[in-house]
Order: sequence, then structure tokens, then C-alpha cells
Amino acid sequence: MKILAIETSCDETALSIVEALEEGVDIRFSEIKSAINSQAKLHSEFGGVFPNLAKREHSKNFIPLLSKLLNDQSVESIYIDNPTKKHAMEILERYPDRAEDLIEFAVKNKPTDIDYIAVTQGPGLAPALWVGIVFARVLSLIWNIPMVGVNHMEGHIVSVLGRSNKNTDVKLPSLALLISGGHTQVVKVSSWGQYEILGETQDDALGEAYDKVARMLGMSYPGGPEVSKRARLLREQGVSSIYELPRPMANSKDLRFSFSGLKTAVLYKIQEIEKEFNQLDEEKINHICLAFEDSISDVLIKKLSIALANENYQSLIIGGGVIANQHIRNILSNFANENNLEILVPSQDHATDNAVMIGIAGYFTIKRSKPAVAPDIVANGNMSL
Ligand code: KG4
Ligand code: ZN
Repeated sequence: MKILAIETSCDETALSIVEALEEGVDIRFSEIKSAINSQAKLHSEFGGVFPNLAKREHSKNFIPLLSKLLNDQSVESIYIDNPTKKHAMEILERYPDRAEDLIEFAVKNKPTDIDYIAVTQGPGLAPALWVGIVFARVLSLIWNIPMVGVNHMEGHIVSVLGRSNKNTDVKLPSLALLISGGHTQVVKVSSWGQYEILGETQDDALGEAYDKVARMLGMSYPGGPEVSKRARLLREQGVSSIYELPRPMANSKDLRFSFSGLKTAVLYKIQEIEKEFNQLDEEKINHICLAFEDSISDVLIKKLSIALANENYQSLIIGGGVIANQHIRNILSNFANENNLEILVPSQDHATDNAVMIGIAGYFTIKRSKPAVAPDIVANGNMSL
């Protein structure tokens, strides 16, 4: 089965063709081709993702990316009748400046071997999600290919199946930790497609906390990678942080997280240092980054230990943009070893938002739902697993 996957929930416009190959009872996924455009630089001047800018950029970049994705694939020209064209124009009503181009492109470039289309339905920024959904519906309509709406968080869970040496033959139940810019969740994966949220953040997501701390320290969005780079600098010298930050909710005995207090603690620490020394030098900034990362590392391990005490898990899945962080990968991998858990991690480019994970989640969605041609899918910014 070949799936064209579309992801526009935040600041990445991502398209992929993913193939699902059945190997006995197991499925192996392979990435045939991807095309992605990140808007991170554009949003950095706003200090975060600006929804209407994201929407504009997704709709501007969609056709060039689709063209790149299909340029070496087998495509054919098809005929479009007037009622279908009219219907497509109606779906594209809010994108008048893209409508003609998208319809013309679709008519000239129908892929000959795509079985389904999968598009992120939520959670995410509604204006951004709508672009993917509307454009996917038009392709589905003109190409007469059935489609499904996919949960982005299921995407982050199954992103670990995007590795070439992996298939669905994973020991379950699995404990999944999802840490991204929008979410921090601990999820029980009983089977592929069956998920239960065990706990989540009560306020900021972990990636959001990284980005806010980075911003307070004068770094540009998204600041997660810069904060972790600075923490690593000290860690590699064997230096411990001269500062100590709280471990919010580490002792709450449940799986709830909270990172907004930690962010405030960082703010107070910065104010305290500025008062004492008049300024924040590079060295002190690095020490704050290290103290922050030590704090969140402790919290993550504490919460995972609580989850393990409650149930006999066989494996640990980690997903979400923050997993691009090597230190967090290391501590989670050590934790898995110590607890005899098989660990599943996405590759670096499947950790942050991408369409391969949407294609894989699309496969499971297709199996449990009824794909249809251009269904009335509604963007759901708060979609839950
Ligand atoms: O999953 P993702 O790409 O988008 C959402 O669905 O939110 O996650 C983006 C988040 C951002 O907050 C970014 O700062 C964080 O992942 N991130 C990192 C690193 N790389 C990306 N955080 C810490 N260390 C990193 N190396
Ligand atoms: Zn994400």
C-alpha cells in the first residue's frame, strides 16, 4: 500500500510517499520520497509560530513541494469534468489565489500508484491544519483517491517505525513518552492503533519550556537546540551547573507534568544574577541551560519510573521534537537498559515534525476507519489520542 502523506500542523510543510509492506503479520514502512520546507527562520522574529503566517507559507509552498515530490514518480494527465472542477473550486474557496494552480497541477500530475492520502487533522494550529486538509481534499477529489485524517500525536508515536531496521514486531505494551513543542504526554501503547494517555503536562509543553527559556536568554526561536548545545558544552568538560533549579511535580506520584514554574524559576535566577553581576555572561548562560536540562531530565526519569511501577511494560517509545536532543536520548536509553526495556527512537529527521510519521499513522487509521474521497474533514486543533 502506498500513501501520500501531508503534514501542516505547525511550521513545517511536509509531504511524503510512504509504502507499507506486509511481512507476515507485521508491517514494514519505507519512505519512498519526501519534500519538506521549514518556516522556523521566518517565525523566529515573532519568538514563536505565528498561525496566520504559517497558513500563508503552507499554501504558498504546497504546490512547489508537491511538484518536487512527484517529479521522478510515475504520473499521468487526467480529464476533469465541470462538476468536479466546480466542487474543487468550492473546497478551495478560501484560497482563491492558489485554486487554479492546484487544480491544474493535479490534473496534469496524477500519481499512478498512490492508494491513499493521509493528512494531519490535529492537534496543531487550526489555520495551518486547514491548509493541509483543504489541499488534500482537492487532490483526493481530482485523483479519485480515498483519504483519511490523522492524529499528529499518533504520528509521533509511530515515527519510531520509520526506521529501516524496524517493523511492527515490537514487544507490547509499550510506554511512550511524547515530548514536542505542543505536547508532553505519557501514553500506554497496547497495540498499534490503541493508545491511552496516562498523564500529560498541566501547562507548558517541554519543547515550549525550552523555547521560552531560550528566549529569556536572548536566543532565537526555536531555542531548544541552542539551549541543549550550551548545556552539552559544559557537560563535555565534566562541569556541573553552579545553579540549582526546582524539579516541578517530580514528587507528585502521578504522571502529570508542569514546566511553567520551572520557566519562572529560570526568570528569577536570571534577575538574581543580573542584580548581582549587572549582566549575564556566556558562561552563566551556559550554566543556566545545564541546570534547566538537569532539572527536566530528572523529572522525565522520575515520571517514567512511576509509570513502570504501575504496569509491566516491554518497551519504551520516545517521540517528538525534543527527542532530537542527544542528552535526552542518552538518559532515556540508559533508563531503558536499566529496566530491560527495548527502546524505540525515531531517526533525527523523523523526530521533529515530518510527513513520514503521518503516512505511518495514516496506515493504522486506514485500517480502522473508512477512507473516502474528499470527505468533510474538520481541522481539530485540540484533537486527542
Ligand atoms: O515535534 P516538533 O517538531 O513540533 C511540535 O509538534 O511541537 O517539536 C518542536 C520542539 C520545539 O519546541 C524545539 O525547540 C524542540 O522541539 N527541539 C529541541 C531540540 N530540537 C528541537 N529541544 C531540545 N533540544 C533539541 N535538540
Ligand atoms: Zn509534532
